[in-house]
Amino acid sequence: MSLATAPAAIPVDREALVAEILRLKAERHAILLAHYYQDGEIQDLADFVGDSLELARAAQRANAKTIVFCGVRFMAEVAKILNPGATVLIPDLEAGCSLEESCPPEAYAAWRAAHPGHVALTYINCSAEVKALSDVIVTSSSAETIISRLPADARILFAPDRHLGAYLQRKTGRAMVLWPGTCIVHEQFSEKALVELKVEHPDAPVAAHPECPEAILAMADHVGSTSSILRFVQEHPARKFLIATEPGIIHQMEKLAPGKTFIPVPGGSGECACNVCPFMRRNTLENLYACLRDGAPRLEMREELRLAALKPLERMLELSAPRPSGD
Ligand code: 13P
Ligand code: SF4
Repeated sequence: MSLATAPAAIPVDREALVAEILRLKAERHAILLAHYYQDGEIQDLADFVGDSLELARAAQRANAKTIVFCGVRFMAEVAKILNPGATVLIPDLEAGCSLEESCPPEAYAAWRAAHPGHVALTYINCSAEVKALSDVIVTSSSAETIISRLPADARILFAPDRHLGAYLQRKTGRAMVLWPGTCIVHEQFSEKALVELKVEHPDAPVAAHPECPEAILAMADHVGSTSSILRFVQEHPARKFLIATEPGIIHQMEKLAPGKTFIPVPGGSGECACNVCPFMRRNTLENLYACLRDGAPRLEMREELRLAALKPLERMLELSAPRPSGD
């Protein structure tokens, strides 16, 4: 007969589940970081909610024994790379990203080798292995600033998001060689549905994430990262907005801009929940509880890989930091 005790059962009652998560979080001296695309109930439990760059900075400065990362795996990897002393937990290790999947390290290495003399600028939505092969990492909120700080004659290789890359080319006027990856969520926003919504709500500005295709961005009043979209809806005097990004962010919008209305632009034919990221939403209150209870799944990384991926991430942090001259 085994003497091992069975793990405590996941509470069924929501209030009890939340109370247990908070108790275990305190017991583990853990900080909970969450992305805006998480379910609202997870965002409400987080110590910090932010975009990819803000979350990377928060993970780096976290003075906690344990970081519980409610986002996707590449984000938890970034936390581990920047804060190796902390135990990094993620409720579901299978929380991937279509951009990461589109860019296997071997194929990326060959692509890079075929373009000698280029600066390898890579979106943070990629594996630690691809980061390790890159020169500088960018996020949607830092890419323009970072590009403006590269030498004017730098030839740029940009991976893995071709829509973000094309948007950056249009914004900065820099020619770039683009990897053909896409975000399955942002790529599916329906142009037809957006046109119809604009006709129905002519007074509602459109806010879109730059992972969207050009046809959607062309109709947007504001294009930016999740945190920039969040600022836009707070500062703009309009009372109603059309939102072309993952609708998890609407939870924060309703909290930070109460009384305003946020209409999510549908994905696909408009009849599915294709605008919801299936990777981000693998995290639930239930597996967050189990992760805190078990101390697993845990993000582990070979030190050699961590150090190689750290360099381009540190360049991102340096090149995106505000400068006294304001440039
Ligand atoms: P940001 O929060 O940095 O805008 O990124 C959006 C995204 O798609 C994360 O996977
Ligand atoms: Fe990846 Fe798109 Fe999901 Fe972000 S929203 S994690 S880019 S699949």
